[in-house]
Amino acid sequence: MPLNRAYIFLGPPGAGKGTQSKRVALQWGVPHLSTGDMLRDAIRRGTELGRLARPLMERGQLVPDDLVMKMVEERLRESDVASGFVFDGFPRTIPQARQLDRILENRGFGKPVVIEFCVNEDALIRRLSGRRTCSVGGEIYNLYDAPPKVDGICDRDGGKLEQRPDDRPEVVKDRLCAYDRQTRPLAEYYSRQNALDEVDASRNMEEVSRALTEIMRRAEGPNGRL
Ligand code: AP5
Repeated sequence: MPLNRAYIFLGPPGAGKGTQSKRVALQWGVPHLSTGDMLRDAIRRGTELGRLARPLMERGQLVPDDLVMKMVEERLRESDVASGFVFDGFPRTIPQARQLDRILENRGFGKPVVIEFCVNEDALIRRLSGRRTCSVGGEIYNLYDAPPKVDGICDRDGGKLEQRPDDRPEVVKDRLCAYDRQTRPLAEYYSRQNALDEVDASRNMEEVSRALTEIMRRAEGPNGRL
């Protein structure tokens, strides 16, 4: 069943946004738009955007709004987003959120549904230190909570599992600070628009999935927000 609107998964690094967005994309048949994945792809391809983003991402800092907005606007011109999509890691600043409001309005989408993932900092640090990602298909694992069957190898496509360079402890600290300073205020921004829901994302992955499905069914139902 397609969605009828834009969903925004908001939350700190390691909260489980990527894991849950992939599940939601499969469940609802809509695209998962991760600005982090788009930027990492630009770095891999060696584009001008990738060249500018790389040193910032390696230091745990945000990429400038104008670069991110250009990338997002381009992505939203593709036809697969017509009946809804899930943003993971975007918007991340108030100017990005304001610009997104304008884009959604111009394209006839209603207000987005924003779901804030709440997890305490100790759990975030543990999750990030244990994260491994498939170098081929991007499947996400965790050495503690969701390990692969064979050490270092993706269950799905046999790809090599890698640690993200920004998951090193010294960078994680800076990413968490950037989140507090630049992204956390978005919860207040969307709460004022009556567009914010919260999920206790410290629970296990299945429980978080169930809670998200419940919120999304409610939003898509006859009395859901428009
Ligand atoms: P991005 O790639 O977006 O990273 P992030 O927001 O920091 O989030 P993460 O990908 O680290 O975590 P996640 O919440 O997706 O968790 P995951 O599901 O993987 O951004 C990277 C960088 O790009 C930024 O620092 C910035 O430089 C730049 N950037 C991106 N977007 C930008 C923007 N809009 N503006 C400017 N700059 C931008 O899970 C983490 C681990 O936990 C995994 O191992 C997983 O298996 C495990 N896990 C997940 N759920 C659970 C659970 N319920 N219980 C136990 N373990 C779990």
